[in-house]
Amino acid sequence: MTGGNDPAPLAGKFIVLAVTGGISSYKSIDLARQLALEGAEVQTILTQNALQFVRPLPFQILTGRTPIERMFPIEGGKHPGEMPHISLTHQADQTVIAPATADSIAKFARGDGDDFLSTLLLSAKAPVIIAPAMNPRMWSSPAVQDNIRLLRSRGHLVIEPGVGRMARPEEGEGRGRMPEPAEILTEIHRLLLPRPDLAGYRLVISAGPTRERWDAVRYLSNRSSGKMGYAIAITALARGAKVTLVSGPSSLPDPAGVNTIRVESAEEMRIAMLDAWKNADAAIMAAAVADYRPSKTIDEKKKKNSGPITIELEPTVDILVEMGNSKGSRILTGFAAETDNLIENALEKLRRKGLDFIVANIVAGNEDAMGANASRAIIIDESGTAEELPLLEKSQLAGKILDRIAKMWQKDT
Ligand SMILES: Cc1cc2nc3c(=O)[nH]c(=O)nc-3n(C[C@H](O)[C@H](O)[C@H](O)COP(=O)(O)O)c2cc1C
Repeated sequence: MTGGNDPAPLAGKFIVLAVTGGISSYKSIDLARQLALEGAEVQTILTQNALQFVRPLPFQILTGRTPIERMFPIEGGKHPGEMPHISLTHQADQTVIAPATADSIAKFARGDGDDFLSTLLLSAKAPVIIAPAMNPRMWSSPAVQDNIRLLRSRGHLVIEPGVGRMARPEEGEGRGRMPEPAEILTEIHRLLLPRPDLAGYRLVISAGPTRERWDAVRYLSNRSSGKMGYAIAITALARGAKVTLVSGPSSLPDPAGVNTIRVESAEEMRIAMLDAWKNADAAIMAAAVADYRPSKTIDEKKKKNSGPITIELEPTVDILVEMGNSKGSRILTGFAAETDNLIENALEKLRRKGLDFIVANIVAGNEDAMGANASRAIIIDESGTAEELPLLEKSQLAGKILDRIAKMWQKDT
């Protein structure tokens, strides 16, 4: 998980970043920079041996705090009498050791208290995030592996070091590279940020109109813009879901991060939806799928005659009914766009199609939802209970629909 669109997801979080003496200590400057950019307050600790590899100045400038380098004289406290090796662990939302040398790991496992960092770790809250970095032969040594096991058994989070070229080319490749700052940041997010409510769920959403071809240039369609389905897809993505959007012809761009499948006819939408439904936890049918299509299509352009013509229409296959056949305990919901008898018509549709709930909206008059940016909807569930919503932006309505789905999943867990 990442911080999403929030520019400062770690605002208000206090992070203790301990840097120990290894060749990859320089990477921690970038980690400090990213943490500060995300709004975190960062207190760096540099071991005496880390000072052989990096200078305090970049950390000081990037974090706005002077790094602590030693136990005595007392550094880093704000008040007289403060003991930073204890007070910092009270304040810290997260303690991170990056890179963690074999030596610092051994000291932590043993419970040493002979320098500032080891003493601070004695009172640090688990999980401390440990990002080891060392030569592969050091990493695979029984002593290091025993220490790692011990620290994990105490609830600390040891990120597996990466595989790659070692500091010196003649050392070849192996496991021991410091995990990248982005990976460490992801773990910090995972521990500190609230998990979005739709994380881990797969949603399939349909949107837009369909086009039912009649001749080489003409088709039957409707006024749907796709705005409702796209708004649901974008909102679901922001709430952590994995989203597939099956879209009929729409001028809206493919939303970044959403698996968008473009289709044209009701039949193409049916095939794409049934395929996506196989691997989904919920489906929301927001597309205005044609109920009828021309029985016959003409390859060439129909010439104009003076007299009237008749186009025979045949019904299309009902996608929701077919999806309902393999529903199981998954959530299936759709929209009812009606010009009259909104609640009765929507309830009849919900029962006939076996939906969990239905979103009904009026598509006539001055509150016509089709193509508009806002919609006044009524959400009706299986029991017939109707929740009347005020006129809402489609992104707000998307939020209300997803709240219902999230609540149903919360009940199941
Ligand atoms: C050039 C050089 C590079 C080193 N790189 C690492 C390393 O990547 N990982 C490691 O565990 N130790 C490394 N060491 C050894 C540590 O610096 C040494 O164990 C030291 O005592 C660690 O102190 P600290 O854990 O208090 O920072 C390196 C030593 C030298 C001379």
